[in-house]
Amino acid sequence: MTILVIHGPNLNLLGTREPEIYGKKTLKEIDALIVAHGRKLGVEVRTTQANHEGVIIDLIQTAAADGVDAIVLNPGAYSHTSVAIADAIRSVKTPVIEVHLTNVFARGGDRTRLVTATNAKGVLLGFGFESYLLGLEAAARVAIPRRRASPRRRSRSRK
Ligand code: DQA
Repeated sequence: MTILVIHGPNLNLLGTREPEIYGKKTLKEIDALIVAHGRKLGVEVRTTQANHEGVIIDLIQTAAADGVDAIVLNPGAYSHTSVAIADAIRSVKTPVIEVHLTNVFARGGDRTRLVTATNAKGVLLGFGFESYLLGLEAAARVAIPRRRASPRRRSRSRK
């Protein structure tokens, strides 16, 4: 099973970006923890970061063809605004688990509106970098494994 983790805008700055809010770990350190957690779960993990909305949409659209069974997505600030990313999530079968480092509801203001989460399978937020680890576990549970599709097809053709 393959899970794609997408970090949205400004998350490349983790470690130096408002560490009192987002923590001191860099994205590289968090990615290493995500990959190690995936290994424990028996899941292959790919991680990537994008500052651009369209790049995130492309990644969601092409995930299935790229062999991805589920996506863990932190859309960053696009979470609060992007109908386009919400539409992309809705347009594909690949389940998307949305994650946030912070509890956006506790932060108030515009951050309490989660546009992209409307179409996510589920949301995990407020656990710091561990939101990603929990998101990975959730993604592994709801993934649509590509392996499962072929035996069903085979058994149908035998009838
Ligand atoms: C965030 C929360 C967003 O409001 C913010 O714009 C981010 C990070 C989080 O992980 O807590 O960039 O998605």
